[in-house]
Amino acid sequence: MKSIAEAKPGHVHLWMCEIGARGNDVDQCRESLTMEENERAGKFRFDEHRNRFIRGRAFLREVLSTFCGTGSARELPLAIGEDGKPLVPGSPVAFNLSHSGDIAVLGIAPMREIGVDVECFDRRVECLALARRYFAPSEITALEALDGAGQRQLFFRLWTSKEAAMKATGEGLRIDPRGVEVLLDQAVRPLRYEGRFAPWYLANQDRGSGNGVTVSVAAPEPFAIVWESDSVSR
Ligand SMILES: CC(C)(COP(=O)(O)OP(=O)(O)OC[C@H]1O[C@@H](n2cnc3c(N)ncnc32)[C@H](O)[C@@H]1OP(=O)(O)O)[C@@H](O)C(=O)NCCC(=O)NCCS
Repeated sequence: MKSIAEAKPGHVHLWMCEIGARGNDVDQCRESLTMEENERAGKFRFDEHRNRFIRGRAFLREVLSTFCGTGSARELPLAIGEDGKPLVPGSPVAFNLSHSGDIAVLGIAPMREIGVDVECFDRRVECLALARRYFAPSEITALEALDGAGQRQLFFRLWTSKEAAMKATGEGLRIDPRGVEVLLDQAVRPLRYEGRFAPWYLANQDRGSGNGVTVSVAAPEPFAIVWESDSVSR
């Protein structure tokens, strides 16, 4: 596994993990969580959601503490920034976690900030209705030109790209997603934010076959994705 000493500038490292029933033993995962996190887990109403949270948080702590070399997973000093985004105080690495169903994806990079978003292609959504509410006009036009599986795939690629950008800035719901315009014609592409080119770059990749997932990453400089673990079968 990579450590911060091995991390190259311009690389975003990604780990994918199963957090559903086929994932790691929940009781063992609990040992990587702090007392507060275990208390938070106790507040979930459904076991399925609680166990996903526990596995996801253990995954985050284990990978990040190894990468940063900060001792045990439980001791990793995770804090929440003013914007609600989790951070490791004083660390030169940026990270961001995303989950969708039974899958979690963690991104880590030696950069100022990154945003990561994953979605399962089989999630049931009304693509065009959501797009008309949240997407930029150029994105809606691109979707309307497609139908069936092609339309669903493009929808989730755009959706995760916009979410990744909003998570990178830490602003989440505070910015209007219609002002975040994903430019469709480049693999790693600059983002247009409220009509102007913003200093954020996006990349999107699909993983798995059949009902796979799509993963988007946003970062403040052009970058390459390096997969560190991608063993989830879907
Ligand atoms: C947290 C938020 C930023 C992303 O939520 P999401 O896409 O539902 O969930 P994800 O699984 O991708 O991300 C959740 C993780 O992001 C991290 N996170 C939490 N707040 C964050 C923030 N402000 N910025 C970045 N990351 C954040 C946490 O690690 C969290 O994991 P946890 O719930 O286990 O603690 C959400 O509050 C939000 O604002 N989403 C935008 C919704 C929207 O308008 N979408 C339409 C655009 S197409």
